[in-house]
Amino acid sequence: MPDDAIVAHALAKRYGRVVALEDLTLRVGRGECLGFLGPNGAGKSTAVKMLLGLVRPTGGGGELLGKPIGDRRTRARIGYLPELFRYPDWLAAREVLAFHARLLRLADAPRAIDAVLDEVGLRERARDRVGTYSKGMQQRLGLAVALLGDPEIVFLDEPTSALDPVGRSDVRALIERLRARGRTVFLNSHLLGEVERVCDRVCIVDRGRVVAQGTIDALTGEARGVRVRLDDGWRDFDVAPDDVPALVARLVGEGVRIHAVEPRGATLEDRFIALVRRG
Ligand SMILES: Nc1ncnc2c1ncn2[C@@H]1O[C@H](COP(=O)(O)OP(=O)(O)OP(=O)(O)O)[C@@H](O)[C@H]1O
Ligand SMILES: [Mg+2]
Repeated sequence: MPDDAIVAHALAKRYGRVVALEDLTLRVGRGECLGFLGPNGAGKSTAVKMLLGLVRPTGGGGELLGKPIGDRRTRARIGYLPELFRYPDWLAAREVLAFHARLLRLADAPRAIDAVLDEVGLRERARDRVGTYSKGMQQRLGLAVALLGDPEIVFLDEPTSALDPVGRSDVRALIERLRARGRTVFLNSHLLGEVERVCDRVCIVDRGRVVAQGTIDALTGEARGVRVRLDDGWRDFDVAPDDVPALVARLVGEGVRIHAVEPRGATLEDRFIALVRRG
């Protein structure tokens, strides 16, 4: 479909006898954010590297922006934050970005570099050498490189693993800004609470196989009643979503004091653990 940013059909990778990815079929629409989840070694980074044309598939194929994976002209329209990366210690952040701007043949490099430095909150330290950076600052620089030139698709392989809570919330806001501009985000992450907040859909892989795929609501199911905090603590009530106002009205009518009401649905983490344990 013309509106698909990312398509994979039966994408597979073996390393000798190790099956890194068995059969990945998915599509991500333009402007969507997909959470790509799975336990360590499930094949997530391998899938990303194949979609980017960095690792050769042993089966299946795919397309980015309507072109077969590996297409060189499409590469300039894709951003990538690898999971393990290291820029030379002796370069300043600005120099790293200037180098990548040259690779991308950006017309107005200084402006593009300032834009991404602001985007990741690294402007003040941009003239310092990478060797003097904390882990989180290096991850921010990696994000800045991925965002340089305003790519149409951004692959983020664990973008927040080194970030403090404020940094994580900054990245969430950044992903929301990308989506507001119609950019497509492919997010590998182990932070399921984060994924739940920014992604439209998720795909869960385990040992190279897709074990679940769909919207977060479809995966976690309808809320199963509510938890209500009363004077003496929390109590669970099994009611349909439409019946919550009546429940609250009844309790208040009985003279009960209500301090809080919250849905009692399964979280993405509950579903993830159940799926992966079962496998
Ligand atoms: N270059 C390689 N040579 C041999 N085996 C590899 C290679 N790269 C990955 N693998 C294997 O492929 C499997 C999937 O690895 P991959 O890095 O894709 O996992 P992942 O889901 O990204 O895990 P993590 O959450 O730890 O980042 C693992 O069994 C890994 O050992
Ligand atoms: Mg990985």
